[in-house]
Amino acid sequence: MGAVTTVIIPAAGRGTRFLPATKALPKELIPVLDRPVVQWGVEEAVAAGLRRAVLVLGPGKDGVAAHFAPDRELEEALAQAGRAELEAVVRAIAELTSVDTVEQPEPLGLGDAVRRAGELVRGEPGVAVLLPDDLYVGPRPLLAQLLDAYRIHRCPVVALRRCPPEAISRYGVVAVEGPGPVFRVTDLVEKPAREAAPSDLALMGRYILTPAVFAALETTTPGAGGEIQLTDGLRSALAAGPVVGVEYQGTLLDVGTLEGWIQTLVQLAATDPRLGPAVREGLRAAGLAVVPA
Ligand code: UTP
Repeated sequence: MGAVTTVIIPAAGRGTRFLPATKALPKELIPVLDRPVVQWGVEEAVAAGLRRAVLVLGPGKDGVAAHFAPDRELEEALAQAGRAELEAVVRAIAELTSVDTVEQPEPLGLGDAVRRAGELVRGEPGVAVLLPDDLYVGPRPLLAQLLDAYRIHRCPVVALRRCPPEAISRYGVVAVEGPGPVFRVTDLVEKPAREAAPSDLALMGRYILTPAVFAALETTTPGAGGEIQLTDGLRSALAAGPVVGVEYQGTLLDVGTLEGWIQTLVQLAATDPRLGPAVREGLRAAGLAVVPA
């Protein structure tokens, strides 16, 4: 069986939680430190050994793909201005990975977005999916942790995090068997009521999918919120074989909400060698106590 080489990055949502910033600017191009959110996702996938990205884009989101295209004119201008370091940074983005795109004309749900990428990954035994709304920080790329489980079990793999009861109904939630951290998933339910949640293990935005999941998505009908849910496709795929869940190590930082994005910026910037001193000085000037670096 061949290795997983492709990551699907759904980026066709409307980003309503960032309006008005996202009226013309795709949410995935909002910067976190010096690079857009989507580049963090692609870098995680590349660090996990993946070599091709399929971006699912909505109308007017061409800028997301353009970010990964070569820009010879800019490179030349930077070289002529003696800015060799920046020139290398710009060139490296286009060399990160090969990028294909597919359109999702309307944001009908994550399941629909992933299904539309299906034709570009036909014949591949397994495919990674990464939602760029969460940035991973930790010892080993999260997708690499899921790929470890995939290589052993050869079935769909989902990323799981324990979640407090008051927040559980915002997520897909699984029922599991086994002691963990690698579980056998026995059921999946999207955004359950707090009392109906089958466990405190919530689905986070990283997956390894197999052809059985793409087949199930073909007949998945709208579920929670009227959207075609990837969780429901995975639930149907349970009939075709096992699904495994990994309680991962490391942390996902939320950049899909304004509050989460600001917290992520502060956390990453305050500990960044280049930006840290200025950020800590800004926090001190605002009268906020900070732990000295
Ligand atoms: P979200 O629901 O968090 O993103 O989807 P959104 O719809 O852009 O956010 P709000 O609620 O309007 O602020 C998680 C990921 O799935 C993608 C989004 O682009 C995001 O990366 N997505 C979601 C799609 O590609 N298509 C969809 O139909 C829905």
